[in-house]
Amino acid sequence: MKSLSSRTEKIAPSLTVAIDTLAKTLIANGKDIVSLGAGEPDFPTPEHIRRYAQQVIDAGKTRYTAPVGILEVREAVCRKLKRENGLDYKPNQIIMTSGAKHAVYNCFLALLNEGDEVIIPAPYWVTYPELVKLVSGIPIFVESTAENKFKISDQDLEKSITPKTKCVVLNNPCNPTGTVYSKGELEALAKVIRKHDLFCISDEVYEHFVYEDTFTSVAAIEGMYERTLIVNGLSKSHCMTGWRIGYVAASEPIALMIGKVQSQTTHHPSNIAQYGALAALDGPFECVIEMKKAFQERRDYMFNRLQKIPGVSVRLPEGAFYLFPTVSALFGKHTPEGVLIDSSSSFCKYLLEFHGLAIVPGIAFGNENCVRFSYAANMDTLQKACDRFEAGVKALL
Ligand SMILES: Cc1ncc(COP(=O)(O)O)c(C=O)c1O
Repeated sequence: MKSLSSRTEKIAPSLTVAIDTLAKTLIANGKDIVSLGAGEPDFPTPEHIRRYAQQVIDAGKTRYTAPVGILEVREAVCRKLKRENGLDYKPNQIIMTSGAKHAVYNCFLALLNEGDEVIIPAPYWVTYPELVKLVSGIPIFVESTAENKFKISDQDLEKSITPKTKCVVLNNPCNPTGTVYSKGELEALAKVIRKHDLFCISDEVYEHFVYEDTFTSVAAIEGMYERTLIVNGLSKSHCMTGWRIGYVAASEPIALMIGKVQSQTTHHPSNIAQYGALAALDGPFECVIEMKKAFQERRDYMFNRLQKIPGVSVRLPEGAFYLFPTVSALFGKHTPEGVLIDSSSSFCKYLLEFHGLAIVPGIAFGNENCVRFSYAANMDTLQKACDRFEAGVKALL
């Protein structure tokens, strides 16, 4: 038989999805597992969104839509961008996608030629480098550290730019670190991006979960609007993960490119999900505020528990719903069963096998020293997770 696609073979499957799937399988097989692996809000999709989608189905709005999405929905995205981000977009600059992950993929397809370099601050969301590779681009990582609040500086960015650099990916607030860039910090990065005439993909899916500061979109920084591709979606803000609905907001030529790609690939995201997005974007905002309050309480609880555990160092994240503690002080220790802990993966494997706790090794996000907890789970689950983590760490000391 002939060989399969070497380009596709090069990419790794998502480790966060793999861990969540493994935890679910273990639970289905009767194992007592607490899983904080998935970045998925535990709340139901708000009722007004569910009801509206049901009405839409009953009204027979179940046909193909335009590849870029339903005009009414794209108008709602424009209203949202104006209301919440102070940005002026026209509907022909908006493309509805099958989730934000798909939006990121579309952006890379629109921007990259073979060998183009994409700068990705590390730690990063698992998907960015793999999608860059899938479209024959080259991911270039810019490291950040816990000491610097996992932020890259304008100098860090400048040093990583080559003649082949095409774009920079900013994920603000960041998964997995919870880091939020301030307006001033974005201005400094934007200056470098403009100087080198780069594009910027700004993944803003966690924009509503900022606890200490206010959120600024990099597209709102002077000179950035034309070169920024905003990626956003309803999965996180409105608990619509399974609906698979997101969008890109970009300049008209880029939006045209993405529309063309979509017309030949998915055609368009689900009609029903688009109407769900309409109800979410134009509907009451209280549900988002309530959820943010709950996440903040959970973050504070988790932070207070984790920071008391010896061998673990954790910073208070300003946004998203993840904690990314450093656990490398535990490397070199042995489990009571005699297994050496020498990496974030061996540590997480040990926690899953011997303490029934599923969390994600930092290496999945390009940082071997840390592990990622999602705190998008109820307090009971978080309490159990902290108990198990603490017991697991103490058994190593
Ligand atoms: C930073 C980031 N961007 C995009 C996504 C994808 O979201 P969606 O469910 O809309 O595809 C995720 C999901 O975990 C994420 O963490």
